Amino acid sequence: MSVRVEDHYRRLLAPNYTWMLGGDIEHTARTQRALLGTLLGGPASLGSGTVADLGCGSGAQTLALADMGYGHVLAIDTDGSLLEELRAHARGRPAVETVHDHAVSALDKLATGALDAAVCMGDTLLHLPDRAGVEAVFEAAARALCSGGRLVLTYRDLSRPLYGTDRAIPVRSTDDQIMTCFLDFADEDTVEVHDIVHTRSADGWTFATSSYPKLRLAADWVVERLVEHGFTVAHHDQSDSGLWRTVAHRSA
Ligand SMILES: C[S@@+](CC[C@H](N)C(=O)[O-])C[C@H]1O[C@@H](n2cnc3c(N)ncnc32)[C@H](O)[C@@H]1O
Repeated sequence: MSVRVEDHYRRLLAPNYTWMLGGDIEHTARTQRALLGTLLGGPASLGSGTVADLGCGSGAQTLALADMGYGHVLAIDTDGSLLEELRAHARGRPAVETVHDHAVSALDKLATGALDAAVCMGDTLLHLPDRAGVEAVFEAAARALCSGGRLVLTYRDLSRPLYGTDRAIPVRSTDDQIMTCFLDFADEDTVEVHDIVHTRSADGWTFATSSYPKLRLAADWVVERLVEHGFTVAHHDQSDSGLWRTVAHRSA
C-alpha cells in the first residue's frame, strides 16, 4: 500500500538514506560541491550570501554549500530524523540552520528577495504531491530569491514508462544490506516507488518494504513552468546517470 512521502521516509527511507547514498556523507558532499561549483558558481565573497536547500535530506548539498562559503545555509526538510542527522554532520559548520518545514511554507516565511540562491536536488521535486505543488515551489522561490538569484534543480524525468524487469532497479548492496527499488507506472502523473530493503541480522535476513508516489515530470515541462514563474533558464542538461540539471535565474 502506498503511503504519504513523510510516512515513507519515517518508516523506511530516512534510517537508510545516507547508507543508500554510499554511506559516507562527507564524500557525497564533496561530489555535490564539485557539481554545485559548476552549476552555481559560489557566493560573491566568503562568509556571505544566504541560500536555501529545499528537501535537504541528510545534508549532501547543505554541507557542500556551507563548505563553498555561503554565510547562511537554510536546510529545509519535512523529516525530523534526517534533520537531526544533518545537524550532527554539520557540527563545526556554523552557517547551517535546520528548518523542519515544508519547502513552500519555509520559503513563504522568508522576506522577499532574502535568498541569493536556492537548491532543490536529488529528486526532491518529484516528492511534491502534484504538479500544482511543484509550481507552488517555483512561485515561492521566485519571491524569496533576490533579482538574479539562482535556483538549482536536479531530478529524473520519469515521463516515459518502463516495462517488465526494466522496472526493477538495484540501488545499493553491501555484505549486510541490499536495497532494490521497483517502479510501478500507475498513471500519467505518478509512479509508485516500491522500496525493498533486505538486512542481515544474527537470525538471518529481514525484509522491509514501503511504497510512495513520485511525480512523472517531463524536463521540458519543468523549464516551461520556470519561465512562466519569472525565471530565465541558464543551464539545462542531463548527466550520464540520467539526472536532469536545471539552473534558472530569477529575472530582474
Ligand atoms: C530524495 S531526498 C533528497 C535529499 C537530498 N537533497 C539529497 O540529494 O541527498 C528528498 C527529501 O525531500 C524531503 N521532502 C519531501 N517533500 C518535501 C517537502 N514538501 N518540503 C520539504 N522537504 C521535503 C524528504 O524528506 C527527503 O529528505
